[in-house]
This record gives sequence, C-alpha cells and structure tokens, in this order.
Amino acid sequence: MDAKIIRLTVNGRAHRTIVEPNLTLLHVLRETLGYLDVKNGCEKGDCGACTVLLDGKAVNSCLVLAWQADGCQVTTNAGLGTLEHPHPIQEAFADLGAAQCGYCTPGMVLAAKALLDETPHPTEAEIREALSGNLCRCTGYGQILRAVTIAAEKLSQ
Ligand code: FES
Ligand code: FES
Repeated sequence: MDAKIIRLTVNGRAHRTIVEPNLTLLHVLRETLGYLDVKNGCEKGDCGACTVLLDGKAVNSCLVLAWQADGCQVTTNAGLGTLEHPHPIQEAFADLGAAQCGYCTPGMVLAAKALLDETPHPTEAEIREALSGNLCRCTGYGQILRAVTIAAEKLSQ
C-alpha cells in the first residue's frame, strides 16, 4: 500500500495529512500533528497511556493504523477541557490527587469518559473493568477509582 492522504478531526480541528501505511495513529497524533498530551508508553497495547477517543470509543492509539482513522473524530485529553475550564473528570482527578507523575492521566481520563458516556452510574466493578487496560505506577489506583466515582456523581447532577 502506498502513502495515503487522510483527514482527521482532532478536538474539533480538521487536519489533512499524508501517512505511510505502517504509521500508527499514536505516531501521527504526537509526531506529525503535535498532540503531545497523547502519551507514548509501550507502543504495544499494554499500558493505555496512548488512549484517545475515536468516534467516541476509547482505543489504544498505538494499535490503530493512522489510515484506519481516516474520516474519524479523535478526542484527546486536551479536547475535554482546559486548565481554566476542566471537564468534571479532569477536575476530580486533580482534586483527589488521582494524578501524580501524570503520565497515565490523559489515558485514564479518556477511558473514564468513554465509560461514563455509556454508563453514567457505574459500579466500582464497572469502573475497574473500564480502566483495566490503563496502568498507573504511582497512585495505587484508589484515588483514581474515587475520582471517577465523584465525576460520575457530578455529571449526573
Ligand atoms: S503506548 Fe499504547 S498501550 Fe502503551
Ligand atoms: S500518576 Fe504516574 S503513572 Fe499514573
């Protein structure tokens, strides 16, 4: 397969770029388009740091070839909120100390967003299951679980 022109909308902004067939969505988001909030952890689907929403579904962007995302809507952590106007999930992570080094946080927040979009009142087991592909080496996960629980409560008020 030859290089291909693809169109992507990332956080509401339209992009058109040329990709080699073997380039991952992670590579194109970070290296070509500069979305550095998408983290590169393992590049083999083990850590979840590279999670983005692809047409609303949480995916490991290191496991998606960029051309497969042609025509799709991508949301990264930066697309959910800003420092001044954080999304309730981001706010709960900050308030509860659910982010320490922060490397896993963008992926965790997006995995939580995908969960709460589908299941607004998740059980703890459902939260654990939804975040099971996202590894954190700092927090011990307790504050992350609490943050998602509190965000769910805030979002359903
Ligand atoms: S970088 Fe994609 S799952 Fe680790
Ligand atoms: S906060 Fe450091 S890896 Fe999760």
